[in-house]
Amino acid sequence: MPANPKIEGDADVGRGGSHWAQGPPHEELAETRRTCPVQWTDRMEDFPEEGGFWSLMKAEHIREASLNWEDFSSELGGVVLVDSVLPPAIQSGMFIAMDPPRHDRIKAIFQKGFTPKRIGEHEEEIREIVVNVLDRLGDRTEFDLVEEVAQPVVSRVICRFMGIPEEDDKLWADLMNGILASSDPDINPEGVETVMARDVPEVFARVQAMIAERREDPTDDLTSLLMNAEVEGERLEEHEIIMGFFLLMAAGNDSTKATYCSAMHALIEHPEERQKLVNDPSLIPSAVEESLRMFPAFAHFRRTATRDVEIGGRTIEKGDRVALWYVSSNRDEDVYEDPDRFDVERNPQHQAFGAGGRHFCLGAALARLELRLLIEETLRRYPDLEIAGPVSWVQSGFVNQIKTLPVRVPASGA
Ligand code: HEM
Repeated sequence: MPANPKIEGDADVGRGGSHWAQGPPHEELAETRRTCPVQWTDRMEDFPEEGGFWSLMKAEHIREASLNWEDFSSELGGVVLVDSVLPPAIQSGMFIAMDPPRHDRIKAIFQKGFTPKRIGEHEEEIREIVVNVLDRLGDRTEFDLVEEVAQPVVSRVICRFMGIPEEDDKLWADLMNGILASSDPDINPEGVETVMARDVPEVFARVQAMIAERREDPTDDLTSLLMNAEVEGERLEEHEIIMGFFLLMAAGNDSTKATYCSAMHALIEHPEERQKLVNDPSLIPSAVEESLRMFPAFAHFRRTATRDVEIGGRTIEKGDRVALWYVSSNRDEDVYEDPDRFDVERNPQHQAFGAGGRHFCLGAALARLELRLLIEETLRRYPDLEIAGPVSWVQSGFVNQIKTLPVRVPASGA
């Protein structure tokens, strides 16, 4: 195949969220990995006005691009493929959408607080949050794992880190869910434009109010850390504080919830795998890694080429958008044997938190801890849950997330 010209892709990665209503189209992704692993798609079906993009489907190419931030910028066009979903101008204050040196300096401010050791100090506090949320279910035998378990737990954890009172957890969860899953008509019936016009400004106004409160009355939460952070002797600008807050809230709210629900769904669908964890909870950390591999919470993140650059025998041109499809690379046949098999003992390496390099997930240790505690406590209390109704997925090619997961405690286990 010639390195260029670009050819239109034959896979469905570009068809957008409406095509992903039952979760990622894994068979089609596997076909693209086999036939055209570095692929150009001319237009996104759901967002035809946005133009084309490259897809990197294999682990090796995604790692190559992730390590090469000079050629694959997170800053030039931001990290979200569809500009109208979260315009680059809004992303620009978040360090996820910055290149070095500014990215490294801001990230370093947070890194000390997010090491596995420091995060481990929160284990008992987070376990208590999980237990409290499960206690609230009382003796009910049917409930929704997304709304009634995952959401309240992840909201309370991240809101506590940010210094938000518990009564505001739901308000923030609704705001962040609406923005991140803005292409889903159930979560956001009013369309992407309304989210941009109404919800994003509301987040800004609320954070501004929190900043003003802390100027009067300093706290020791992450919001204050952002306000007091200094990069080369200068405080962050207000826009950067707001967007830093937004980034932590968005990442903390959504991704861990998504992985927990996918993990529980898989465990219910594979009772023999679940039984292994019930019999031996020390396997749960391995099951967490296998869930992260098979169901990465973000299907992809974006980069933009800063110059013409070759990857996998194709030439990506300066200014082109590039999607790093973690949802594909985590099932790359060159890396995993039988990649579609859910195996709680596999304990795999994966790219769910990114493929190394500077943008590797800041919250990986926190996410792993939350996931372990959520699965431990859920299985301890409910070792044999069943699916009680239709399972649905958020309609998005960006967040890979179950939207409803109704479950029932079987009569014998009640
Ligand atoms: C299962 C849970 C999670 C998953 C799958 C996940 C995934 C990711 C991925 C793939 C990236 C890299 C983005 C890129 O390639 O451009 C990332 C970055 C990031 N994540 Fe997470 N994340 C999770 C949980 C969290 C949590 C709980 C937090 C914090 C509260 C967090 C904070 C961040 C931040 C701040 C970045 C930006 C890092 C940088 O640009 O240097 N994440 N995450």
